[in-house]
Amino acid sequence: MTFKYVDNELYAESVKVSEIVNEVGTPVYVYSKKHFIDQFTKFHRAFKRDHIICFAIKANSNLAVIKTFADLGAGADIVSKGELLRALKAGVEPSKIVFSGVAKIKDEIEYALDSGILMLNVESEDELLNINAVAKEKGKKAPISFRVNPDVDPKTHPYISTGLKKNKFGVPYEEALDLYLKAKELEGIEIVGVQFHIGSQLLDTTPIYDASVRIAKLIKELNSRGIDISVVDVGGGVGIVYNDKEDKEPSIEKYAEQIEKAFDGFDLRLVFEPGRFLVGNGGILVSQVVYHKSNGPKNFMIVDAGMNDLLRPSLYNAYHKIEPLFKKGNKTIKCDIVGPICETGDFFARDYEIEDVENGDCIVVFSAGAYGFTMSSNYNSRPRPAEVLVDGDEFRVVRARETLEDLIRGEML
Ligand SMILES: Cc1ncc(COP(=O)(O)O)c(C=O)c1O
Repeated sequence: MTFKYVDNELYAESVKVSEIVNEVGTPVYVYSKKHFIDQFTKFHRAFKRDHIICFAIKANSNLAVIKTFADLGAGADIVSKGELLRALKAGVEPSKIVFSGVAKIKDEIEYALDSGILMLNVESEDELLNINAVAKEKGKKAPISFRVNPDVDPKTHPYISTGLKKNKFGVPYEEALDLYLKAKELEGIEIVGVQFHIGSQLLDTTPIYDASVRIAKLIKELNSRGIDISVVDVGGGVGIVYNDKEDKEPSIEKYAEQIEKAFDGFDLRLVFEPGRFLVGNGGILVSQVVYHKSNGPKNFMIVDAGMNDLLRPSLYNAYHKIEPLFKKGNKTIKCDIVGPICETGDFFARDYEIEDVENGDCIVVFSAGAYGFTMSSNYNSRPRPAEVLVDGDEFRVVRARETLEDLIRGEML
């Protein structure tokens, strides 16, 4: 564990989290570099075959975090021009960047082609034709894969399930062959691979195996039609433990075995797009308790972070473990832990048993390293929190807390 209590006080690696709070204030995201490196290494070592790990930077797009992975040899899975800029700035090799997303627009396609990325994962025929047109205009060939929707149920939260027919993602499995045949004839297109991603936070990776088996069948069919596939990109989706009483950590070794088995005998390079697995449990959000109040039987602990800082509980009803920064042995209370935002959905936990924390002391929201800061907003005109990266016994601010000036930058009266 890279976040642990010593003498009832929380440490991030060898740094007292209270030291960070004293220097940087709250709310603050705190990341552990060691956790990131450990998770990456675990993932990397599980595979025997040649592969590229493209960190899904939508999970945590801080430059220092991306650089941590780039320094380990990681690529990046990006979904926008902004993410491409971040990946390049952080030192990710262009030849290890894959571009996902359902609606890549002209200037994003141009930027990707000019940067020389590994491939664009195409999600519709319209998009294919647009990419072809942009590439032709530039006198280039766009390296592509199709994101194929294998129609496999990932058995996760509906909002993060992406590989079913009813989801907007990818091209239908049954139509993929025709689309590849069409793409083969296009002057501005170079077919490189096949991609799929069926959902996020999968605690059982068997649905990814099932999807891989379907995709392997498709690749065989493509090969028999003279279409060479040199890359298979199996997306991300491996889950993490949020609730240590209920969640069982998926075995990354079993996952690796499943994927290698599904693509055994195929001469292709494996690409992965993990996000949450690499960073989720490497981050916490620390927030100060501002007030307590009771409305009849209901108790509220009101903290200085809100849904604008960490959206997951409001958006998915996601569980995050919450504990005091200092465990003082106070009596336990049952309460809703809520933020200051004018929305009933502004909560981090409901009817939650926690050792009581006095006003002015801090709580810690665990497992906030993925889809935490990246989903934050300025709702209610609140400056976004600072981000801090801990490395051993040192820490540094890797994104400054936003100021009131930042809030109104670019606006005109
Ligand atoms: C195409 C694609 N790849 C990778 C990911 C990363 O998923 P995860 O964080 O579950 O690994 C996502 C998440 O939404 C995605 O849409």
